[in-house]
Amino acid sequence: MKEEIKNIEIQLLLEGIYRIYGYDFRNYSLASLKRRLKRRMVAEGVDTISGLQEIIFHHPESMQNLFYDLSINVTEFFRNPPFYKIFRQKVLPVLNTYPFIRIWHAGCSTGEEVYSMAILLEEEKLYDRCKIYATDMNERVIKQAKQGIFKLDAMKKYTRNYHFAGGKDEFSKYYTAHYNNAQFNSSLKKNVVFAQHNLVTDSSFNEFNVILCMNVMIYFNKNLQENVIDLLDNSLCNFGILCIGEKENLNFSSFNFKYKQLDENQRIYQKIK
Ligand SMILES: C[S@@+](CC[C@H](N)C(=O)[O-])C[C@H]1O[C@@H](n2cnc3c(N)ncnc32)[C@H](O)[C@@H]1O
Repeated sequence: MKEEIKNIEIQLLLEGIYRIYGYDFRNYSLASLKRRLKRRMVAEGVDTISGLQEIIFHHPESMQNLFYDLSINVTEFFRNPPFYKIFRQKVLPVLNTYPFIRIWHAGCSTGEEVYSMAILLEEEKLYDRCKIYATDMNERVIKQAKQGIFKLDAMKKYTRNYHFAGGKDEFSKYYTAHYNNAQFNSSLKKNVVFAQHNLVTDSSFNEFNVILCMNVMIYFNKNLQENVIDLLDNSLCNFGILCIGEKENLNFSSFNFKYKQLDENQRIYQKIK
């Protein structure tokens, strides 16, 4: 019963947030919502979701903090290195046959994924032919992504990732160290447009050759996953490539029949219908 009440309180809270602030978290996965709301309750010093609701509804700055908590931004350079290795082997040769390449990183967080892909494209001499859109619902992370400044002490791990991902150069040639930070070369972002875009409430773009929406839908329930796959599908041209995270897949989606998986281990799909 207690759990049932909590679920009702969560539904009411999310409905209110949508009506008051326009943020739509109503179809995010309940398990992850519960963890994040718990965190906010502790931070706000309240014991119930209803207590949190009182604060969130009447204090926009508390809503902002909850928004940042619900936008889970964990990311890294060359996250899941085998993905980049396979992308280099199987996708880049196809892209090489195009005169012009349009790429969309949907849910790019602080940009590590975008700079990783830019490095790959640069190394395969494709970067100058690319127009890259990097979007996220969270304006704060988009600002950070635009700056291209990351913590220097993470570079050891990212260098390892880069080499596991098939990188052949010195990773350090892509950034300059300033005190505790690594400033990535601005040439890597010269063809990138960073913008705010919400996959739940904003409309589709078109016509991309590649869309990466990795580790984003994992936070959505099945209905919302289906709506977002629909939006991505509408934004992808025929024979375009769709990349999703390693814990996500198209198997249970009604769009599965339109896609061919290009590698048995990586979630890299080609639109064939
Ligand atoms: C875990 S990060 C993934 C970052 C990167 N794609 C990766 O794989 O490392 C998830 C990102 O999705 C964004 N996100 C969540 N819901 C979103 C939505 N409705 N529209 C756009 N971005 C969203 C979050 O703000 C967060 O930056």
